[in-house]
Amino acid sequence: MSPAGPSSGDSGGDAVTESATAQWYRHFGMVDAPGSSPCYAAWAVGIAGDAELIRRIDQWPHNKRQPLLILAAARFLGAQVSPYRDFRVFLDHHWAEVSEIVLSRSTQTNEAGRCATLLPSLAQISAVEGRPLALLEVGASAGLALFPDRYGYEFVGSGGDGGAAEPGADPADDADPAEAPEARTTRLVPGGATPGTFPVLRCVTSGPVPLPAEIPRVVWRAGIDLNPLDVRNPDDVAWLEALVWPEQEFRLDRLRQAIAIAQERPPLLVAGDLNERLVELVGRAPADAALVVFHSAVMGYLDAGGRARFRRTMAELAAERGCHWLSNEGHTVIAQADGSTVVPEMDDARLRGRFLLLQDGLPAAITGPHGQSLEWL
Ligand SMILES: C[S@@+](CC[C@H](N)C(=O)[O-])C[C@H]1O[C@@H](n2cnc3c(N)ncnc32)[C@H](O)[C@@H]1O
Repeated sequence: MSPAGPSSGDSGGDAVTESATAQWYRHFGMVDAPGSSPCYAAWAVGIAGDAELIRRIDQWPHNKRQPLLILAAARFLGAQVSPYRDFRVFLDHHWAEVSEIVLSRSTQTNEAGRCATLLPSLAQISAVEGRPLALLEVGASAGLALFPDRYGYEFVGSGGDGGAAEPGADPADDADPAEAPEARTTRLVPGGATPGTFPVLRCVTSGPVPLPAEIPRVVWRAGIDLNPLDVRNPDDVAWLEALVWPEQEFRLDRLRQAIAIAQERPPLLVAGDLNERLVELVGRAPADAALVVFHSAVMGYLDAGGRARFRRTMAELAAERGCHWLSNEGHTVIAQADGSTVVPEMDDARLRGRFLLLQDGLPAAITGPHGQSLEWL
């Protein structure tokens, strides 16, 4: 989720008299959440209409007021799916602890499912280079997207547009691969792995997706994050679980399977700003592998200057190191070479809540934000 509030405060009716924070919660409860989590929708709308809670939330710094953060903090502390009035009682009983979690943590959702939308590009790069991959993820959270070679895949051809999400609909439910014909399903499994020990990432495809015949080999993996989460730390694991919205059990199962894989041999994660640590970490990648720097759902956390700096660094790394770049992001885009910030494919009407995948700076695909769909351009 972007740390910014809703783009428009125009909720109509009583909302025009609400504070910006109340409008943010109402927007989340009425637009963002209903298709994904009826519980979060009800809680957010309840908070929006609760002047005392809004007053307390407004005492936090602006970047701590986002709905997902307080909701995840409450669930981290044990709040169960319940009507708003029970949730309100929970908040009153645990307010000091909720505040502490909100102020000490941030939204760092780590979605292994996104590997499904990165895999065809990764395989293409490895095949063209004729070398295995070295992966470097910026904004890696716990680094679960650094294991694309350890997950299974089911790519299901839809023939449609890849399952666009309706506004407010759960992007993860926007197309059901189970309904697609078996004949159009491509399955890939990690070499030597026992079925049941790895998550299978289902992804509805459309357009000429260059599906690989096998999963590319990864010989090095590393990440950068302002606050790397440690898959061997039970508190960090509990926070990752709390960040999955209630009623999304399949995502929780997938997360737990991915965490189990990462726990066997945690990836190298360095703490710091991606712009400060990138060049140094690139220098540690093996020279004989095809190096890919990638990111998903990260650029929204940077300001325009930070994004422009990152783009310049990537251009230099491409020229000097032959480094590849995969950018999988929502409507907050990286400034383009001509100084513009929007490429045509980033038109909101086309994206409809999905991400744009840029391969070495060029639009390659429109992707489901949790990796659930891949529309090749
Ligand atoms: C929404 S999470 C996405 C995690 C992961 N990329 C994924 O797709 O599952 C965004 C992550 O970016 C990190 N982040 C934000 N700004 C950053 C920066 N300037 N440098 C490094 N990491 C940053 C956050 O700490 C957070 O873990």
